[in-house]
Amino acid sequence: MVNARKRFGAASVRARAFAGATYLSYVALAIGVGASPTLAQSADRAAAKTSAAGDPDARARDALAQMTAEEKRGLLYGSFPMLLAPAKRPAGVASGAGIVTGVPRLGIPMQVQTDASLGVNNIGQRKGDVATSMPSGLLQASTWDPAVVEAGGRMIASEARQKGFNVMLAGGVNLVRDPRAGRNFEYLGEDPLLAGTLVGHQILGIQSANIISTIKHFALNDQETGRNVHSVNMGEAAMRESDLLAFQIGIEIGNPGSVMCSYNRINQVYACENKFLLTDVLRKDWGYKGYVMSDWGAVQSVNALTAGLDQQSGEQVDVKRWFTKELDVALSNGSVPASAIDVAALRILRSMYATGVIDHPLEPTPIDYASNGKVARATAAAGIVLLKNEGNVLPVAQTASRIAVIGGHADVGVISGGGSSQVTPVGGWKLQVRSGTGLAAMISRKSYGGTAPLDAIRAAFPQAQVTFDDGTDVARAASVAKAADVVIVLAEKWATEAEDHADTSLPDGQDTLIETLAAANPRTVVALQVGNPVQMPWAGKVPAIISLWFPGQEGASAFADVLSGKVNPSGHLPVTFPASVTQLPLTKVPGSDAPAADKMTRATYGINADTKPFDFSYPEGSDAGYRWFDAKKEQPAYAFGHGLSYTTFKYDGLKATGGKTLAATFTVTNTGNREGAAVPQVYVRAPGKAKRLIGWAKPMLRPGESKTVTVTADPRVIGSFDEKAHRWVVTPGTYVVELGYSATDTAATANVKMQRQTRKP
Ligand code: BGC
Repeated sequence: MVNARKRFGAASVRARAFAGATYLSYVALAIGVGASPTLAQSADRAAAKTSAAGDPDARARDALAQMTAEEKRGLLYGSFPMLLAPAKRPAGVASGAGIVTGVPRLGIPMQVQTDASLGVNNIGQRKGDVATSMPSGLLQASTWDPAVVEAGGRMIASEARQKGFNVMLAGGVNLVRDPRAGRNFEYLGEDPLLAGTLVGHQILGIQSANIISTIKHFALNDQETGRNVHSVNMGEAAMRESDLLAFQIGIEIGNPGSVMCSYNRINQVYACENKFLLTDVLRKDWGYKGYVMSDWGAVQSVNALTAGLDQQSGEQVDVKRWFTKELDVALSNGSVPASAIDVAALRILRSMYATGVIDHPLEPTPIDYASNGKVARATAAAGIVLLKNEGNVLPVAQTASRIAVIGGHADVGVISGGGSSQVTPVGGWKLQVRSGTGLAAMISRKSYGGTAPLDAIRAAFPQAQVTFDDGTDVARAASVAKAADVVIVLAEKWATEAEDHADTSLPDGQDTLIETLAAANPRTVVALQVGNPVQMPWAGKVPAIISLWFPGQEGASAFADVLSGKVNPSGHLPVTFPASVTQLPLTKVPGSDAPAADKMTRATYGINADTKPFDFSYPEGSDAGYRWFDAKKEQPAYAFGHGLSYTTFKYDGLKATGGKTLAATFTVTNTGNREGAAVPQVYVRAPGKAKRLIGWAKPMLRPGESKTVTVTADPRVIGSFDEKAHRWVVTPGTYVVELGYSATDTAATANVKMQRQTRKP
């Protein structure tokens, strides 16, 4: 595990982009970026919080004992406020994704729920309401920095609370398995350890504001096509070693008050009535004590209650009011025992006590958007990924006198992903364009807001003449490019909930535009605003490529700081950029050619039954992302873990030890002439298996400075899940340890001998 003192000297931490008091409060946290001790340290913090709330189990039992049957029932379902008749909407209560009745006489408040992971979604709020819009999940994951992600969680939760919400539907951690999946931008990448660690810290941040965070969408809801009808068929071991592991780690670190079950079926059984997932795995194996809420419109029967679902969300958007009217029927015919209500109500109450929702009543207060914006900007600065920088074309010198900015509505704002995670940024939308098809077109718009890249670039290069061309006329744009010292092209591909991409290419002729600009000016820099990896057939023809993902309302300022060199980029890819779709496990998105449903059977919010039910399985099993590429010996365009800096680093002195515990110690040196943060990564190949990330660090180093890092492997990431033994097993043998700059760029390797060991599920 990471040697805290050596890795993060106070001076180096203070020198980071997050200078000042806000960042320093996270110093204590920044000591654990690697594997198992991070889990232990963080779990301790979550436990300490629980005990500060008294004994939440005892308090919940006490409250339950005083409640009437009706009051208990009230906790078990929520309403979608926008579908309530105005007269039925509770006065003075914020309108978001849901409300759940409280028990005022016992001091139990109403649960007021809002989306989501990227800030307070304001769909239900009065017109003109805004919130700080954070960079997308993929950008946050590109920071590889739990402290940064936690700071973001803390900020968005403080806004949620100030706006009158005490439950955030944040904590999306579905794994990126396919770069065409529409919601990947919300999530934290393809690796269970990285994604699980980061989501755990996001939840810690959110719950520090005394509100409940969820972790979602449990489980294997990794694509949008047919999300309400498809079944992902996967063996238990593969599930436990991939998607479920991300949830398991996230829950251990963050201890979220709630888990949200997903729309899809898993091995034929709908997630929200999947006893294997909700009871056997979540409760029995993982000891989870919070409650399970459904995704909006994801409940299929009243039996969900006995399978492990505790709360039906937004009951109007389900096919039936399962936990009210249908539950009455089930109770009277005995198919659901009355005790099931107590079990569910108790879990909900417990989370309300454990997170402090009950002890800290909501009192909406004014929001300091200026200081929250700094959190969004610092996050973007830490996660922007420099993919290519040939001939050190970046940073752009302050002596550049003519800069051409082209495309991507760079004169308007930055693009954001669509759907329930979307946040109307401070300043409001500057441009909204109808896009998408079907449900996606109904629920979202391609929207631009926040600081415009053009304005940010002008501010960062005050001496330069910065011209803009929208890129719609390729010849005109090329002549603008020709006249410039440097060209910055903003390429974009919008993504949204409820729709997957048909392919991985940039739309609307942008490849031709970029090729033409590169031919007109060899100093052409491409910045991608994308929710997924994309194909870049022109990559060899431009000297520099930057991934901004969807960078949030302050992303353009962070981008301009990277261009000018004020920020030294330190983002690293949390996903693989394939060189071609033929390298992917599946050449098409499953269900993309499934027969259309006879009718939109359940055309309500979140329900997208526009195809007939279909089943599929992932050929890669637990080997998602870089592991599949490793197993198949395929070379990606840009590998998982890749990211450049304006300085250079050397990783050496690798010493690995085995036995019962696998540990790797090595030295990281800044060999360039700028201060910067490295992200050394350690991968392990267990006998006969594809490589796997076991830990990393993000030390900040001054020129010439060295730090020693130790990373220790959690047995779950080097072991396999043995279904028969119902345990994790590390098999004895020789394991290859790789210290790398990315999943494909290895600095050193070492062999260790491991002894057999096992661990509970
Ligand atoms: C999404 C969830 C979201 C919920 C409430 C659903 O469509 O899948 O992520 O929290 O809506 O808005």
